[in-house]
Amino acid sequence: MRFIGNKEKLLDRIYQAVTSTGVKDGVFCDFFSGTSNVGRFFKEKGFEIVSSDLLYFSYVLQKAYIENNGEPEFKKLLKTLDVSSNILFASPFDSVRSYLNELKGVKGFIYKNYTDEGTKDQEHKRKFFLPENGKKIDAIRLLIEEWWKEKLINENEYFVLLASLIESVPFYANISGVYAAFLKEYDPRALKPLQIKEMSFYSGDKEHTVFNRNSMDLVEDLDVDILYMDPPYNHRQYAPNYHLLETIARYDSPAIKGVTGMRDYKNQKSDFCNKNTALLALDKVAKTAKYRYLILSYNSEGAMPEKDIIATLEKYGRVTLQNIDYLRFKSNSNGDSKHMKTIQEQLYILENSQVGNKRVGKLKKKDLALQEA
Ligand SMILES: C[S@@+](CC[C@H](N)C(=O)[O-])C[C@H]1O[C@@H](n2cnc3c(N)ncnc32)[C@H](O)[C@@H]1O
Repeated sequence: MRFIGNKEKLLDRIYQAVTSTGVKDGVFCDFFSGTSNVGRFFKEKGFEIVSSDLLYFSYVLQKAYIENNGEPEFKKLLKTLDVSSNILFASPFDSVRSYLNELKGVKGFIYKNYTDEGTKDQEHKRKFFLPENGKKIDAIRLLIEEWWKEKLINENEYFVLLASLIESVPFYANISGVYAAFLKEYDPRALKPLQIKEMSFYSGDKEHTVFNRNSMDLVEDLDVDILYMDPPYNHRQYAPNYHLLETIARYDSPAIKGVTGMRDYKNQKSDFCNKNTALLALDKVAKTAKYRYLILSYNSEGAMPEKDIIATLEKYGRVTLQNIDYLRFKSNSNGDSKHMKTIQEQLYILENSQVGNKRVGKLKKKDLALQEA
């Protein structure tokens, strides 16, 4: 998924940083999970994963890829669906996907608020999706909810289907990257009929734990081997930039406003989007959580200066810094053309002197689960 700060291309480097600590297994915490890519990677490497994010749609991805171990069978649902014989040999997920792809659209919340046809009589006309695709998103989202309420799908199946919708929507959105604006004219991508894409499943036999929480509220209960932090780098909050994915995932018909139909996000603001609160938050995590190694992904252009990060982390143990040159598209000062620029992705590795190289105990999973409920 296109997502600001997605670490897909840096997974090997993060893995090298982890192996350089000597930790080969145990509990890996992906504290700022986003797409859940990092958690998925370390799940496949055999770690037990704990992950969290402020965004609900990230939680949906974490549930489907991290907590869920393998491809669901949709046994109960498939008995009730009239799936055609040409998908006889398809996997259970592909059968359900084909069924959803054939659905007739309905005029629901997305059509009414985020398509030009649906908003034509409103103060703000919006063009995030082709009307047919807006209706299709509504139809799929509503049916997933109906199946869930009628107990035709279990929890894993519910989140896998939601995740498949969330993963597919960006391929048809009429945006240039984030949902804080839509394009005036349709991008060719947005003109294609929406289809639910194929999905990968991550199998395993470990029990993983995922949260839709402010990670700062979890630190006191954490006791992990690797605490991986990938917070926002600058003042841009994530929630407004991905508000539509959040609304599709929640499908809670929120009050929306402005040109882009933004939902309220006051409870989803991150301390890491401001230099001063970011350093305090980093200090709180490094001081309070229990971990053998804390690994912080950051960026040479981030809000927290390198010297301040090192000074903060050094209070709790030995710090090493790895710089990774990374080519990135960067808008010029007019914002109208793009050129490549080398920036440095950074990995700060803190060896916790308080616990030495020994785990201090078991992760208090029960406590965390209780807090969530
Ligand atoms: C740089 S992105 C993470 C990208 C992720 N590693 C990936 O590969 O997709 C930062 C993420 O941190 C989340 N976030 C920011 N502050 C948070 C907090 N206090 N608690 C939980 N999540 C937070 C944002 O919602 C966003 O998804």
